[in-house]
Parts: sequence; C-alpha cells; structure tokens
Amino acid sequence: MCGIIGVCALNRNVTPIISLGLRRLEYRGYDSVGIAIVSGDGLIIRKAKGDVDSFLSKFKVEELSGLTGLGHTRWATHGPPSDVNAHPHTDCSGRIAIVHNGVIRNYNTIKRVLELRGHRIASETDTELIAHLIEDEMPFSSSFFEAFVRAISRLEGSYAIAVINVEEPNRIYFARMKSPLIIGLGEGFNIVSSDIPALLDYTRRVIVLEDGELGWVTATEVKLFKLTELGLIRVEDDDLSTRVRFIEWSVEEASKQGFPHFMLKEIFEQPYSIKSTYEGNVEDPALRMAASMLWSSRNIIVTGAGTSYHAGLVFSYYLSRIARRLSYNIIASEHKLIEDSVGKGDVVIAISQSGETFDTLEAVRAFKARGARVIGVTNVVGSALSRESDVVVYMRAGPEIGVAATKTYTSQIMSLSLLTLFAALEGGVLDRSEVEDKLVKLSRAHEITAKAIEESLKHVPENPLVGSKSIYMLGRGLGSLIAREAALKVKEIAYIHAESYPAGESKHGPIALVEKGFPVYFVATSDSPEIAGNVMEMRARGAHVTIVKTSNWRLDVEPGDSVEIVEIPLEDSEILLEPYPLIPYFQVLAYRASVARGYNPDKPRNLAKTVTVE
Ligand code: F6R
Repeated sequence: MCGIIGVCALNRNVTPIISLGLRRLEYRGYDSVGIAIVSGDGLIIRKAKGDVDSFLSKFKVEELSGLTGLGHTRWATHGPPSDVNAHPHTDCSGRIAIVHNGVIRNYNTIKRVLELRGHRIASETDTELIAHLIEDEMPFSSSFFEAFVRAISRLEGSYAIAVINVEEPNRIYFARMKSPLIIGLGEGFNIVSSDIPALLDYTRRVIVLEDGELGWVTATEVKLFKLTELGLIRVEDDDLSTRVRFIEWSVEEASKQGFPHFMLKEIFEQPYSIKSTYEGNVEDPALRMAASMLWSSRNIIVTGAGTSYHAGLVFSYYLSRIARRLSYNIIASEHKLIEDSVGKGDVVIAISQSGETFDTLEAVRAFKARGARVIGVTNVVGSALSRESDVVVYMRAGPEIGVAATKTYTSQIMSLSLLTLFAALEGGVLDRSEVEDKLVKLSRAHEITAKAIEESLKHVPENPLVGSKSIYMLGRGLGSLIAREAALKVKEIAYIHAESYPAGESKHGPIALVEKGFPVYFVATSDSPEIAGNVMEMRARGAHVTIVKTSNWRLDVEPGDSVEIVEIPLEDSEILLEPYPLIPYFQVLAYRASVARGYNPDKPRNLAKTVTVE
C-alpha cells in the first residue's frame, strides 16, 4: 500500500535520495508517482499516473534540486489511479504539500465541512483533505505545528503522513496511526519513510514510529510527540535515542543484483534465507520461550493473511502430528468468527512477513483485548506485530521486495517447524535425542531447497500453462496445504484462475468442471499415498495431470500421455522436510507463466506488498 519518502538535508540535493527511494518503494504501490520539492519561495510538484521509471524520466526529476522534499508511490484506495489523484496533494494556497498512506474513515464528513468552509478540493482522494484541514486550522493556531496537530486530531482511520510547507522550508512534519512509518537518521540529513529499503542506501540507523506519534524532522534533529487523550506529550531526546535501531539488511539484499525480477532473485535466495532462519532461531531463547508459552496454553489460535495464513496451516499440521497439540487456524480478517471464545490462557500465533498487515494486527488486538497472549512470527524487526507481541520469533529471511511471497514462506515454515519441535520437547512428546535428530535433518533443508530449485528450473516449461484459463491444484495431507500456496502464486502473478481444495473433495462437487485437457496439478506428499485414487479419477475424465512429488516414497501411478510425474530429490522420510523440495517447483511455474504471458511478476495488478488497509 503506498510508499512514502521525505528527506531534509543540510547541504545536499535531496532529489537523488527521493528518486532512489521511490524506486525502492515501488513494490508498495505502483499506479502513480509524485514528488514535491521546496524551492525558493514555492513548491515544485510533479506527479502522474504510471510507474516510477517513466515518471522519473518524463519529468527529468533528477534535474530538480532542493534541500527538502517528499516522494510517493500510490496504490489507489480513494479515487482511481490518475494524474490528479496522484500524491503529493496541496491545500488551496498551494503552500502545503502532503503524502499519505492509509485510509481516512471520516472522509465524507471532513469533505462536507471543508467544502462548506470554501475549500476547493481538486482530487477524489482522502489525502488532499488533510492538506486543506491543516490550512483550515491555521487561523486558529499559533504555529504550523499546532495546526498540523489539530488537523491530525480530526482524522479517523489509518495514516502515515509526511507534510512540507513553504513557510518552513527545512522541515518535514509527520504522523503515524496504523500505517508504518520510520525515520532514518543520517549525517546532515534525515529521512521519513514507509519502509527500510528506501533508506538503506543512505543509513542503517532508524527509529520506528508508534501509533499516535507525530512530530517533525529537520536535517539535524528529530522532535517526537505522542498524541494522547490528555493532549500532546513530548518524547524526550534521551528516550528517543534508546529507540534507535541498527538495521542489518544490506543494500545488495534489497536490490535485484542482475536478476530480471526480484521474485526470481528471492526464489534463488531461499537456500540462504532458510539457513539463516534455522541458524538464527535454533539457539534463540525467544523460540524456547514461545515454545513453553505454546505448550502451557489452553487453546492455540494460528492467524495470518494470504501466504502467511498458508504457512500457519502447515504449522498446525506439524503441531498436531509432531507435538500432538490441536490448534485452530483463522484467516486474520475473519477473527470475529472466533474471538468471543478466545480468552485468558489462550495463545495466538500471528504470522506476518511484514509485521504491518492491517488485518493481522486487528486480529491480534482483538484476541489480546480478550486476554490471549501473542507470539508474533515476522521478518521485520521493529514492525507493529513485533511491538504488539508478547514474544517474537524473527524469520531472519532478509528483505523480500517481490510482491508475491517466496522466501518468506519457506522461512515461515522453517521457524514454525523449529517452534513445533521445541513445543514437543517442552511437552515431553519428543525427547531431547529425538528433537536433536530432527534438528540435524532440518539443518539440511537449505541444501534440499537448492537442489529443488535446480530441478524445478529443468522441469517447469519455459512457457507453462499456455492457453489455460482455469486449473486445479490439489493435494492431500501436507500436499493439500502446499497446493493452496501454489494456487495463490499462480493466481496473483500469472492471472490464471487456480483453485485449490483437498483432493478428496473432487467427487463432492468440483470434478464436475473437469473435461478433456483440463489442467490438474497434484502436490503429492508421502503422508498421503491415497492420492493415487484422486489422480485416477482425474485421469479417467481426461484431465491433463501433472504430479509433483518427492523421491522418498512410491506413488502407485504410472505416467502416460496425459499424466506427467515430476520427481524432486529427497532422500529423507522426514515430513518436516517435504515443503522444501516441493514449493520451488510451483514458485518457478508461477514466475515463468507470468513472464511468458507478458506480465511483471514483481508488480501484480491490484496488489501491494504490505496491506495496511482494512
Ligand atoms: C502472497 C502474499 C500475500 C501476503 C499477505 C500477508 O504472495 O504475499 O498473500 O502473504 O498479504 O502479508 P504479511 O505476511 O506481510 O502479513
């Protein structure tokens, strides 16, 4: 959802920093782009519908110059993508410019009031209203900051905001509520940004803002306040300095390094990210603490959205099979379905790569409010999820830029597998030597993944799913859970309808759709050899069947004209290892189908990397 960057510098031109920041943030939203620079006694604003590269070259942005400026990449919420709806937005006087990520809920009320008071609103966005609100508060305020605070107090909903005004050319005002915002501290400059990759080229020292915080940066100082019901409370400089974090991600990790797309690079990175997840967590006391919390809980609830929800399904299966604990999976946006029965003594495992997904955070808040404790599993240090959890398990996968999750899915599975093993140890279901045996096996997951990527590149055709409009991706047991993730990948980047359901359900309805040549993929795992029968049902109806399985077990199906069997090497019979050989095949399949159909897998239409709206 929308990317924000704002830079204040002492004696360097900020446009190169903003331009690179926009490129780094484009994964957060890519329907329109804009920039505002304070120059002389006015603002230079350039904005347009389209992508960052076309925008930067069309407006020759790098030729603009100034010491303070804002940039924005948009993922439309209020108003369709258009030049006029692109950020930054200004007030009537054109002397205040704002960029925003989030959704203002009381949009209609504010708009009506502003119009009655004579403001001329040019766009359909909620963002523009905030610029006019500040302007509206100016006559009643003794300073711009006071007007800013008064305007922010009138907003309901979610926002990360950065504002400049020509009267104070060396300042950026900012505010955060339920949308991510961080401050990067540099030598002679400071950056306000939605996310870490936008500032990694310039600094690794960041302050993560919390909900209700607002303030301003200049090139050399940060002033922070908390807006509370009792009024504005200043965050003292000493307290602020204790909040400075050092980000270990490197610039290389956040750039394509010669790969045509981030997604392909991130598929290839999995052997490293999986190893990093394993090594970073296996000795981590936080994981042991989470395991003990889990074991002593009354109920276990597992939540997340999209791919993270899918990783949670695998976790629940492992918990049941290995640690003999039953858990309940709930899609984060549907937390209301169960929240009335959640309470004290329950533990929630909230899984979120970004740690900023609105739905997941809302679920966490609802469960916490009823007395549950929370184990957050996230990739982003300092994210909202990490701050709202009682214990945090970090995935340590490095930055993931491609909108479709790849390496974070396998790292989620690795961290949750470790959690399963330590929970089983804690509960005495496995003894120390059994756990150690499985840990040795898991420590080899990265090698298995490396081999699987190599094999998948050989087996997946360069131009897969030609002419397919609709496909099934099926499995049983663990395979049915992996198939759900496989189908999501195909849908979101290749725009092919891919439906996933447990293979045993075919005969209860979905097989009615199958006719000659209908593509059906089976994710066949060793826990469910009975999938052979489901393959036969599909074969008998003329489906075009592709079975992807590991080599550690025998499936009672013969390949034939319309049945292809792809076998990915895996010697071990350990169920904890089976996702690693299987998932790369489907990541490569989705990637190649997307590219072959002329799409950009890094920027799937209608999607954004971090979904910070309801
Ligand atoms: C799919 C994908 C999304 C995310 C979902 C949750 O490839 O990336 O489905 O998994 O939006 O995001 P996080 O994990 O950041 O909470």
